[in-house]
Amino acid sequence: MWIDLLTLFPEMFSGVFGDSILKRAQDNGVLRIEATNIRDFAQDKHRSVDDKPYGGGVGMVMMCQPVFDAVESLQQQKPQVDEIILLTPQGQKFDQQLAKQLAQKQRLILIAGHYEGFDERIRSNLATMEISIGDYVLTGGEIPAMIVVDTIARLVPGVLGSAESHLEESFSENLLEYPQYTRPAEFRGMQVPEVLTSGNHERIRKWRLDQARQRTRQRRPDLLNETD
Ligand code: ADE
Repeated sequence: MWIDLLTLFPEMFSGVFGDSILKRAQDNGVLRIEATNIRDFAQDKHRSVDDKPYGGGVGMVMMCQPVFDAVESLQQQKPQVDEIILLTPQGQKFDQQLAKQLAQKQRLILIAGHYEGFDERIRSNLATMEISIGDYVLTGGEIPAMIVVDTIARLVPGVLGSAESHLEESFSENLLEYPQYTRPAEFRGMQVPEVLTSGNHERIRKWRLDQARQRTRQRRPDLLNETD
């Protein structure tokens, strides 16, 4: 999968995607993540990317021209871009289901905005979808873009190693994680549940499933459907 990020702050992404699992996935060629500076497509001598809003008001608005040109420049390269995604608090709420859909795609462009917002024509005539990471407002779309990329990337086959992806497979979809323990079996008088040291794999499997269900019922009953 290939993901392009359009941003005014490409350097913000280098730390996040330059380490750990996503770094390894890029080194292995499973994933390609590229951040491009929208300002590289500005045309005036001040390299402007924003301007005052028509009709007055405070703040600045991201201009059409640099954003359209940046997207069109990325579209020159193959494969074809599947979605052009704007990160904005007005977008569709991001969740695991949307992440799964996007993980099927070959190529995505994510546009992170700053200032007061985007010229509406970017929204209506360029973007194919808008995503919000939640009902709160950040200073820009970069952190939301990181969250979206990280969530999608770990669903792309080959990004997680077998040990990392095992957890995903071994548990039902809509449940919170069961409790985990590691050595020692007793720490400051706090014991590891006996079942986990029993060596009985079937009992352990049932206990974990039961714990995950209980925990989900207590903390996130909204995740359980009628049949659970
Ligand atoms: N930009 C600012 N706030 C945002 C949010 N909640 N989701 C996506 N992009 C944003």
